Amino acid sequence: MYVQLNSVIVDADTTNRQELASFLGQFGVNPTAQLGGVEALPGMLQRGDSPQLIIINLDPEAHENLKKIGKLPREYPHISFFVMSHVLDANLLMEAMHLGVKEFIPLPISEEKFAAAVERVANSHGMGKRAKAINVIPTIGGCGSTTVACNLAALLAQRSKTALLDLDLIGGGVASYFDVRPRYTLSDVMESAEKVDKQLLDNALVIHQKSQLAILARPDLPEDTQRVNQAGFTRLNSVLSRMFDFVVADSVMSIDPVYAEAIKAADVNLIVMQLNVPSAKNAERFVGALRRMGIDAGKIKIVVNRYVKKGCDIEPDEVEKALGLKIAWMIPNDFKNAIAAINYGEPVVLRAPRSEISTSLTGLAGQIAQRATAAAA
Ligand SMILES: Nc1ncnc2c1ncn2[C@@H]1O[C@H](COP(=O)(O)OP(=O)(O)O)[C@@H](O)[C@H]1O
Ligand SMILES: [Mg+2]
Repeated sequence: MYVQLNSVIVDADTTNRQELASFLGQFGVNPTAQLGGVEALPGMLQRGDSPQLIIINLDPEAHENLKKIGKLPREYPHISFFVMSHVLDANLLMEAMHLGVKEFIPLPISEEKFAAAVERVANSHGMGKRAKAINVIPTIGGCGSTTVACNLAALLAQRSKTALLDLDLIGGGVASYFDVRPRYTLSDVMESAEKVDKQLLDNALVIHQKSQLAILARPDLPEDTQRVNQAGFTRLNSVLSRMFDFVVADSVMSIDPVYAEAIKAADVNLIVMQLNVPSAKNAERFVGALRRMGIDAGKIKIVVNRYVKKGCDIEPDEVEKALGLKIAWMIPNDFKNAIAAINYGEPVVLRAPRSEISTSLTGLAGQIAQRATAAAA
């Protein structure tokens, strides 16, 4: 959960105010002002400093302080008023409701309930959008997962706001696939993870002009990959999720914390494989791990790449039997167009849109976009 809301904190105690301010930071709630008492609120609001959220600690004089809030919630209906107190008596709660207070938060704070309340405020301010996340995972080197991720992202970008993350932190080739030169990378947005916000990301994402795809590249130096961590990645994901319709990740076959997070957050985990024994064995092992992580079978999609009608080591139905999953899509082998696109630095679907491989990738993108629309309906 990470939103972007401006808030004002009202609390008689300075230490409390500071603690609350840093607690709010975790949720992307940015305290623009801290006041020692409710008395200062009307003046501030009249000046036109309009936060989306005002959080008032009613203690130690809960009833008195609540009275002081008076008509403010009704006068400023577009601002959500939260009140907090250790006092939990029915009269106080009723009174708060009458005044138009949005949430009564019993102290000590329950993090989960507070997060849910903030989420409701974010939704009411149109910040509740959640992108469809597509996590593309290879089962063997060279099976074409980067090709699938890049082309899928380029196609989705033509119809909706789309971002592509290169999670192949050491070897990733997304930036060169699109021939873009990023100024900032994934590790840079980790460093300021506490402050990951739309503005920072607008700077860090490089836009591929032809497709309008927003790209966040892998770290420049291998040692910088050490800075990419799960907490930072989670925050990054939730901000991206509010900025885009689709977030595609070019991932790797791993369940390390960052990748486990990507898997869990994904609406679709797209497992890219080839019809050969090593790839199929890895696919089976990895799908097993996803199941044990509790990932719904509906969120796992098997894509066979580099498919040739004759001369596959294993038949598609054997793979389906071993995985206990249907193959969702097969992309034909077309090395000439695939490698030419990489060398040129432009996805094959843009460079050779009428080729067989592009038609197939377009079909896959259509299926994924359709699923997303169906899920949203
Ligand atoms: N459908 C395909 N037909 C033929 N070659 C392909 C196909 N998809 C990808 N390739 C080629 O396979 C190689 C590896 O592709 P890449 O997408 O980098 O794989 P991965 O990310 O899984 O390692 C590249 O040379 C690419 O051009
Ligand atoms: Mg790759």
